[in-house]
Formats: sequence, C-alpha cells, structure tokens
Amino acid sequence: MNTILLTGGAGYIGTHTALKLLEQGYSVVIIDNLCNSKINAIHQVQSITARKLVFYEGDIRDHSLLDSIFNSHIIQGVIHFAGLKSVSESQADPLKYYDYNISGSIVLFQEMLKANVHRLVFSSSATVYGAPDTPHYTEDLPTNPINVYGQTKLMIEKIIHDISQSNPQFRAACLRYFNPVGAHASGLIGEDPLGTPNNLMPYIGQVALGKLPYLKIYGNDYLTPDGTGMRDYIHVEDLASGHLAALGHIEQNPGVLTVNLGNEKPHSVLEVVRAFEKASGLQIPYQFTERRAGDLPIYYANAQRAKNVLGWSSRHDLQRMCEDTWRFYKNCGSAS
Ligand code: NAD
Ligand code: WQD
Repeated sequence: MNTILLTGGAGYIGTHTALKLLEQGYSVVIIDNLCNSKINAIHQVQSITARKLVFYEGDIRDHSLLDSIFNSHIIQGVIHFAGLKSVSESQADPLKYYDYNISGSIVLFQEMLKANVHRLVFSSSATVYGAPDTPHYTEDLPTNPINVYGQTKLMIEKIIHDISQSNPQFRAACLRYFNPVGAHASGLIGEDPLGTPNNLMPYIGQVALGKLPYLKIYGNDYLTPDGTGMRDYIHVEDLASGHLAALGHIEQNPGVLTVNLGNEKPHSVLEVVRAFEKASGLQIPYQFTERRAGDLPIYYANAQRAKNVLGWSSRHDLQRMCEDTWRFYKNCGSAS
C-alpha cells in the first residue's frame, strides 16, 4: 500500500502514525477539520521526517470533499481517527457524538466504497467493553459500553462488520486502544488538548508546568494496592506501530480483525505521578478527591492476539512514557 488517507490525522495519535508511515515510505493524505488539533502539528511531522504530506482542512461529513479527495489521489487504505473522544461531553451532548462519530463514519465508508477503496483501520477503544466482571480484557469478552462515546465506537465496529459481510473485498482492523500517553522522542509532537485536560497525563503535565495548581486524584479507596485507579497506559509510538502492523495484516488477510492494543501492565495514578516526578525532577502536588462517576477501579489488556496475529507488542515502559511526555510539554509549553 503506497498512499494512505488518515482522517483526523492532525490529532494526537494521527500525527504519530503519519510520521511512522512517512518514515516507512508511504505517502500520506490527511483530512482534519482541526476541531481538536492545530495545523502546527502537521508542520512538525513534515519537518521531523523531511517529507511532505497532503493536508485537507475539512470535515469527514462533507461528501463532496471526500469525493474529491478520493478522485485526486490513488488511495490504497484509510486509517480512520477522526471523531470526538470526551466521555463526559458525550454524555452531555449525545447527538453531537452520534453526528461526528457515526454520521461521519457512514459518509466516509460510503465514499470509500464509491471509490473502490477496501482497506480500513479503525480507532476503536477499550471503552467498548463497558464494565465486565474481569479487569483483564480479551477481545472475546461481551461488549456493553456504559457511555455514549463507547456506544459510538461499538456501533462503528458493527457497521464495519456489516460492510465486510456484504462485500468480501472490504477488509478492516478495529484497534481497541487502552490508555494512549507519551509523545514522539523529538519532543515536537504530543498530546496538546484544547482547554483543561480530562485525562490524567496531560493534566499532570499542566500541573508540572504550573498552569494548574494541583492534580485531583479521583479516589484512593479502590481495591487496588495503593487505593488509586489502575490503567493500561500505552506509549503513542507503540500505538502508531500497531497501525502499520494492522495495514500489513489486512493487505494479506480478508475479513475484519478486532484487536486490543495495550501494554498489559496496569499502573496506578500514584505510580504515574511518581514516574512523572522522576522524569521531570519536579514535585507534582495532588489531593485525593471523590471518585469520578463512571470510572472503573482497574482494567488492562490481554494483548496476546496482537502478538500472535500482528506480531506486535508494546516496547516502551511507563518511565519512558513520562519522559517523552515531559520533553514535549517542556518544549511546547502544552496548551501553547
Ligand atoms: P484527537 O482529538 O487528538 O484526534 C482526532 C482528530 O480528528 C482531531 O485532530 C480532530 O480535529 C479531528 N476530527 C474530529 N472530528 C472530525 C470530523 N468530523 N472531520 C474531520 N476531522 C475531525 O484524538 P486522538 O487521541 O488522536 O484519538 C484518535 C482516535 O482514537 C479517536 O477516534 C478516538 O476516539 C480514538 N481513541 C482515542 C483514545 C485516547 O485516549 N486518545 C483512546 C481510544 C480511542
Ligand atoms: C486515568 C486514571 C482516573 C484525571 C479515558 C476514556 C477512555 C479512553 C482513554 C478514548 C483514572 C484518574 C484522571 C485526573 C485522576 N479514551 N484521573 N485525575 O478514564 O481511563 O480513559 O481515556 O477512547 O475511553 O474514558 O483515562 O486519563 O481520564 O484516567 O485521578 O485529573 O486517572 O480516575 O483512574 P480513562 P483518564
């Protein structure tokens, strides 16, 4: 596959994947409406790789723009990142999430089929599992999302399966990410959310930069070794490599692959704070507060399928995730 279209490719995971694709000799076309990203990230990707990509500022719900992109380039595959990802916002404004995530995906898939593009890698999420009985998630667990955001991801997975059933030429991989963190080793691209971050790592980053006074740790009475919530944090560079492995897989194999991308080792909030303090040499002030509604005590990936089928496993540990995050925040001043 030579030319890959990345929807949402100006975002956090998209830029890291674009960079790896360019490094591996792919041509990259991006469509992004910049609703949660900045054009500077695209410039950084091009300067790090010393390669050009093609960027369209626009919305995946725009049929005519997608039609013209598919007509202007010979696209072999699509990696579909574009979408909204805040759990709390999805609960407050479900229609917005159904519109961006579901309607957007339907328009994209319609235009792909019209252009005879039959290779898709989709950004799904561990959120699709909901709250199963076990914290150790395998892909064959029942899916039962407990928020609107997770529902949209599961519905898109179902749509992808249905398209593949009706059209055997259509091949896809649904990648269920766990908790992506970290940044490119250059410190030039990373997660740069607009406004106050919802997620742990960017929040800690802003506390370290002095932009927020202290971290609120949501609960210290969970049944975990130190009482704080535990998650499977995965370095965004490992995640990006997973997309290239998935592209290779669907090139060789028909059908739809559903696969977890995680590190398999859960870490508590306090462990993340300690690792970040070590990486930055700074103290991160924190206070324990009430649990956050909807949070689970602990969950983490079983990533055996990714190992067996894709030959992929994560390489970077928590300390490296924090070091790379801190380098990015120091360079760019986070919400710069
Ligand atoms: P991000 O917000 O940084 O990137 C998404 C990009 O999509 C942004 O650049 C945004 O401007 C763009 N976009 C949104 N709606 C669009 C539309 N209608 N048309 C064109 N562009 C649009 O998020 P990310 O962390 O890079 O996540 C990428 C994908 O991975 C998302 O689909 C997200 O749901 C999924 N995911 C993310 C995480 C995570 O924690 N970061 C975990 C699991 C899954
Ligand atoms: C991690 C841990 C919090 C912030 C979310 C989405 C999920 C996926 C990844 C997209 C938890 C604790 C956090 C803070 C804290 N995204 N925390 N203080 O909730 O595991 O997953 O992002 O698909 O769908 O739900 O990630 O980074 O918000 O939280 O104590 O200010 O940090 O309670 O234990 P989460 P997170």
